[in-house]
Amino acid sequence: MENRKQIDIEKIKVIQAPLAGVSDKVFRYLIRKYYSHCLMTTEMISSELLCNNPNPRIIEFDELEYPLAFQLVGHKVDKMTKAAKILSPYASIIDINCGCPVKKVALSGDGCALMKNPSLAFDIIQSIKQETNLPVSVKMRLGWNQQEENFIEFASTVEQAGACFVTLHARSRAQMYEGRAQWDKIALLVKELSIPVYANGDIKTLEDAIECLRITKAKGVSIGRGILGDFTLLNRIEKYLTTGEVFPEPNLTIKIDMLKRHLKLEIERLGETNGIKFMRKFYSYYISSIKNASKYRSILVTIEKESEIIKVLDEILSIYYRND
Ligand SMILES: Cc1cc2nc3c(=O)[nH]c(=O)nc-3n(C[C@H](O)[C@H](O)[C@H](O)COP(=O)(O)O)c2cc1C
Repeated sequence: MENRKQIDIEKIKVIQAPLAGVSDKVFRYLIRKYYSHCLMTTEMISSELLCNNPNPRIIEFDELEYPLAFQLVGHKVDKMTKAAKILSPYASIIDINCGCPVKKVALSGDGCALMKNPSLAFDIIQSIKQETNLPVSVKMRLGWNQQEENFIEFASTVEQAGACFVTLHARSRAQMYEGRAQWDKIALLVKELSIPVYANGDIKTLEDAIECLRITKAKGVSIGRGILGDFTLLNRIEKYLTTGEVFPEPNLTIKIDMLKRHLKLEIERLGETNGIKFMRKFYSYYISSIKNASKYRSILVTIEKESEIIKVLDEILSIYYRND
């Protein structure tokens, strides 16, 4: 395992951004199966939960996912360090969540609240590095709100603490997911830091990635919601950045095939009832290109048997190609 989990950050152009409740082991496995060499990141893992209950389900992953960052959320130096030590046999990198805006997280001092306390983030990073010897990265936002946009000061502090790179989601906590990500601010940070900066926020296509890198001059891109419904996106961006080749977006046949694989693997992981419930959030992304997508989505989310979902998906395909 030691060799497989090694990471050469120099080579990383694309990062799969963590999406809690979405980018589970199956999601990450499929990104690899669709040929991406990106750095994978787990969903955020609570350091408190991991320390109190080191249940293997919290840290489920497949060896195929390497290189793999485990993302920790929390604000207590001792708990964050202990959690990182629990993860150290498996992690290529420990990523510290300094961006989560959700009330339950940020109002208890975790996630984006760490940006209000750069010296605490400094201590957490130093302690994890000392105790685990692993590289530590940081995922952050512009700041708490527009008045407190301290991303340059905060990122400089984590750089001094020894972080190996930062990923900047170019919105403040107050913005949540509203408005456009401000890529011009990522460009400001790139000029200030010596460590790599990865650009995050609103990169949903190859063209977005090219434009974002042109504006920011970042080391690479970190992509979350853009992967939904298209596991080939990361590989297509990597191909373009390394060879200049442009590969076509997947057609509906490929997307439906992806959806079927995703469904099958979630059913294997969670059982038919829970696997099907879990998959309901994904349908609209896979079928967004068809006429009447919302009608089909409403049908799909009521179905409780895998075989019936497959029947509807095949019907969608045959109607689509008949009308084409
Ligand atoms: C459903 C959802 C779950 C998320 N979970 C996490 C998380 O666990 N850790 C984290 O650092 N960011 C999390 N994020 C933020 C994303 O990683 C990313 O920064 C944000 O969505 C902007 O990038 P995008 O436009 O490429 O999606 C989450 C976002 C969404 C929409």
